[in-house]
Amino acid sequence: MSYSPYLLKGQKALVTGASSGIGEAVARYLALSGAAVAINYHSEAEEAQKIVDEIKANNGEAFAIKANVSQEDEVKAMFSQTLDQFGTIDILVSNAGVQKDSPFVDMSLEQWNKVIEVNLTGQFLCVREAAKEFLRRGVQPHISSAAGKIICISSVHEIIPWSGHVNYAASKGGINMMMRSIAQELAPHKIRVNSIAPGAIKTPINKSAWDTPQAEAKLLELIPAKRVGEVEDIAKAAVWLASDDSDYVNGTTLFVDGGMSLYPGFADNG
Ligand code: BGC
Repeated sequence: MSYSPYLLKGQKALVTGASSGIGEAVARYLALSGAAVAINYHSEAEEAQKIVDEIKANNGEAFAIKANVSQEDEVKAMFSQTLDQFGTIDILVSNAGVQKDSPFVDMSLEQWNKVIEVNLTGQFLCVREAAKEFLRRGVQPHISSAAGKIICISSVHEIIPWSGHVNYAASKGGINMMMRSIAQELAPHKIRVNSIAPGAIKTPINKSAWDTPQAEAKLLELIPAKRVGEVEDIAKAAVWLASDDSDYVNGTTLFVDGGMSLYPGFADNG
């Protein structure tokens, strides 16, 4: 197996929204690669603790930490606890996200605000705290050639418009310009900031889109690779972006989507 269990040895990571779905898989793979991992959760305390226990049983290092990423005081407290526990932080995977879907004209301000607050403001707050620590500490050459690595979990909907999900698509489009602007600002400090844009990945957030044969067949029309993604597809990309193997990659979005963003409807039309 080409997978290196030592790729991230000695590094400290925080993954938000890590009690299920993509965040959980990313946390598990970072731990498998040798990083100590803070598992952030919002409400699923038991699930988060189970992931921690399993990582520890596998000789990894992890702890669970509760915070609502859209609340500045909670994000600050989460980072200060993580720094207390780990001493510093090298990797942030800003993953926590929600959907509150609605036809546009019926979308409430509450639905709009909730999605922007968690998906976009939440990433701003977490990335800012991580960047402060990276700047304070600087590069530790025996740990990584970067002072820190930030991975924003975006979506194919940072470029693909999505009817009935205007709040969600707007939040992901926002992540793209936020990520690239931060990357431009922090690159001289040897901080790398990138995004992963997952396509349709089997997680609780989109269960209704793949959990019946009919729904899955309809979804596959949008995926040239003809399979729905697995959380491991994203986790492996995250390990690479967090490692020095991607040292020259900065300010980019890596689409991990089986070709969903290739506009497959044009394959035999247009
Ligand atoms: C959404 C999923 C959706 C996928 C592809 C993701 O960002 O959270 O619900 O299946 O994009 O449309």
